[in-house]
Amino acid sequence: MTCETLRAMQRRGERAVMLTAYDYPTAAFAERAGVDILLVGDSAAMTMMGLPATTCIGMPEMTVFVRSVCRAVRRAFVVGDLPFMSYQPSDEVAIVNAGTFVTAGCDAVKCEGGARVAARVRAMTDAGIAVMGHLGLTPQSLGQLGGYRVQGKTRASADRLVEDALALEEAGAFAVLLEGMPAEAASYVRERVSILTYGIGAGPHVDGQLLISHDMLGNFVGEIRPRFVKRYAQVGALIEGAIEAYADDVRSGRFPAEEHCYASGWEREFGRPAVSLLAAPAPA
Ligand code: KIV
Repeated sequence: MTCETLRAMQRRGERAVMLTAYDYPTAAFAERAGVDILLVGDSAAMTMMGLPATTCIGMPEMTVFVRSVCRAVRRAFVVGDLPFMSYQPSDEVAIVNAGTFVTAGCDAVKCEGGARVAARVRAMTDAGIAVMGHLGLTPQSLGQLGGYRVQGKTRASADRLVEDALALEEAGAFAVLLEGMPAEAASYVRERVSILTYGIGAGPHVDGQLLISHDMLGNFVGEIRPRFVKRYAQVGALIEGAIEAYADDVRSGRFPAEEHCYASGWEREFGRPAVSLLAAPAPA
């Protein structure tokens, strides 16, 4: 997948499937399932590290996640999410950090904001890096937004979203991710820009849908359950149940059983079976 194949999908009216991944197995399974775009999101702060906010993760941790995902991917388009303060300070900082993700195998990077980050987006695109913008409910600026609040509910705020999306387009971004807004607001933006528009919690009228893998698979540790999430599995409950069964087997002596043990030449060597825990009665 390239920016061009993503544009061709849009022209054919095909919706792109976008999912977050942070590790090698999830990326490999998503790839086999035919996901088009994998976002190595800074949501890894919460999903993978149990931190309270995306602002708590930096380039060193994100680079590990990016490298793990890129190693699994053959076809999908991989977007590395630039963490808080990895692009805000200067054009140079933005180019160097975006370059780190591209060197690790990303096809593009994502950064949050519109007109206010347009100069950074221009600097990165001038350096030959594909950039996806991110507008609406942008978690790196929760302090300014006043928390997790749906954006674009009024005409004025929808117009600001359009201005920001146009600023990103002018700065060379190939796409914009719209997060946390009514379907009408996302559609309003999409009709006014030429770049690709993807959405998370932004309704159906966009070029593709993103979900956070932990939300849709049911392995997010915590009680957050946003309205826009559809849950397709209960992986957390499965893992917990499997580990409970394992613990039970160990404690009762059911594991390891004979089929889990390596054959030995002990009987031949000693002329009798070696005394082992296997022969011992299981603890009560
Ligand atoms: O980090 C992430 O997963 C994101 C999405 C929430 C849009 O940026």
